[in-house]
Amino acid sequence: MYDIDMESVEMTLDVMKYVLNRITSVSPELGHPKSEEELRALVGETITEEGIGGERAFQLFKDVLIKATVPIDHPRHLAFVPASPTRASIMFDLVTSASSIHGAYWMEGAGGIFCEMEAMKWLVSLTGLPQGAFGVFTSGGTAANLSAMVTARENWRKNPENIGQKGLMITSVGAHSSIKSMAKVIDADVLLVETEDRMSQEDLKEKIDSLSPEQRKRLFAVVATGGTTNAGIIDDLDGVAGICEAENLWFHVDAAYGGGALAADSVRHLFHGIERADSITIDPHKWLFSPYDCGAIIYKNPELAKEAHSQEGSYLEIFKDPGAHGFNPSDYQIQLTRRVRGLPLWFSLAMHGTDKYKSSVEQGISLAQLAGELIKENPNVELVREPSLSCVLFRRKGWTPDDYRNWTYKNHREGFALVTPTKWRTADDFETIARFCFINPDTTKEDVLAILNSMD
Ligand SMILES: Cc1ncc(COP(=O)(O)O)c(C=O)c1O
Repeated sequence: MYDIDMESVEMTLDVMKYVLNRITSVSPELGHPKSEEELRALVGETITEEGIGGERAFQLFKDVLIKATVPIDHPRHLAFVPASPTRASIMFDLVTSASSIHGAYWMEGAGGIFCEMEAMKWLVSLTGLPQGAFGVFTSGGTAANLSAMVTARENWRKNPENIGQKGLMITSVGAHSSIKSMAKVIDADVLLVETEDRMSQEDLKEKIDSLSPEQRKRLFAVVATGGTTNAGIIDDLDGVAGICEAENLWFHVDAAYGGGALAADSVRHLFHGIERADSITIDPHKWLFSPYDCGAIIYKNPELAKEAHSQEGSYLEIFKDPGAHGFNPSDYQIQLTRRVRGLPLWFSLAMHGTDKYKSSVEQGISLAQLAGELIKENPNVELVREPSLSCVLFRRKGWTPDDYRNWTYKNHREGFALVTPTKWRTADDFETIARFCFINPDTTKEDVLAILNSMD
């Protein structure tokens, strides 16, 4: 497996050719899933004692398997939170893999970690957090949120009265599912402010006032959202910060999706108050054009994260030695061995400069505004709410949930677009509606018009 022979050289060239084609393709085929049985019938046994050979395995991947996947950067993939890694960042993802860097400790990964830190400095500067704030790249928003929660909970348990107590957090209905899911991981309770719209200072205050004395004692953190996944709504971050400071609560902002918009001058003011957070999640693999996977967690006081996450072991002691000194990303989040997953972002930022990032994020916001206008002009559809960040919620007049589902499947089956329905509370009920989320700056007005016309 380690021989360098003609076969391995040819394989490398084949892989490079594929990568070149894929990176330069502006409209990759929108694949469609097949069942596991169908895929197995098409590819046969791929893992055998002798191996099927690289050429055969790669051919099966190109002919069958890749076609059963959706390219997340397709310009008409407007479902969930899509992505659109820059060509430079994809190229550097290859370089990152080829370089075999262990990104946990400075002693082994210094050069790569240095690059990550350069990119992180820019991210931190977008937040406006005070001097001393810093962060690390994680596998995504879920891991970033979990790392922040562990830090908050450990900080709270410094008070001997809280040792052994089950923690409690408050967030809103609009918060991402990972908040509730990660609360399970740390065995904390979550109470929800009953709104999927903007969580205000008053909403939060009311919730805290409604707690029993026992619950109030267990409350250690509030999670606000800087761009909800469903609708792009930003909570009243300044108002929430005020309450958290007055009540001595950890203030976490989940800006996994919306955080990219901190770079956009047109909407930066909506995040006012984020600079008062104790921790912030931002996912470069969402709106900062990095390949999967790349999230980030930023702390106002990284020492608190270090106290919570730094691992001990006789085999790790060398990393604490003065001779091995430097920034150790493993000390600040849940993972030990890690890819230097901030490297692709660093390279792309270094190559293109931050202005191009700003304009690419602005493009997503403009596309959402444009879609809003096109929806207003089209008699078949109507906005459910004004576009927020790069999300647009709208209804096709007269459609049932089945109509939305059939429309989604038809567009996907035909390789035309992936746009999925969502739900939004209207009156006392949850209505099924359509949703766009724009990330790819290459999506055009024609794409949006064609998708709207597919609802005729
Ligand atoms: C606001 C928010 N937080 C967290 C997440 C989870 O991020 P990941 O899927 O990278 O773990 C998402 C994903 O869409 C999100 O939108």
